[in-house]
Amino acid sequence: MTTISDPILNAALAAREHAHAPYSNFCVGAAIEDDAGRLHTGCNIENATYGLTLCAERVAVFKAVSEGAHGFRRIAIAADTDTLTPPCGACRQIIWEFCGDAEVILANLKGKVEIYRMSQLLPKPFDSSFL
Ligand code: THU
Repeated sequence: MTTISDPILNAALAAREHAHAPYSNFCVGAAIEDDAGRLHTGCNIENATYGLTLCAERVAVFKAVSEGAHGFRRIAIAADTDTLTPPCGACRQIIWEFCGDAEVILANLKGKVEIYRMSQLLPKPFDSSFL
């Protein structure tokens, strides 16, 4: 089992504590690092309509972008699953838009860690190059 100690992981785990997930009880935290080394975090935020739920990754990205941050090279995602939780398809598209071929660090509460690149998770992305 790969384990690493890195502030971005602690940030994702801490953000997970703020998840609003009363419907699924599935709490997720995310953290992204900008080109100044600053961390921006997010948690999943569910809604009684279900469909308006926002994933932790998108909350982290949108919070960071709305504050003028850019140059994201790493994102960490934390959930309480033995098989590490990857970003959903919608989040992959959003991560690609703002983070490109970033490093994606998946982690659980037991310290298990796996590292991927976005190009592995979203191998044939649609992006601005097609427009
Ligand atoms: N969720 C995330 O926040 N990120 C993921 O990568 C997978 C799913 C959330 C959405 C919903 O609140 C809950 O997990 C169950 O799908």
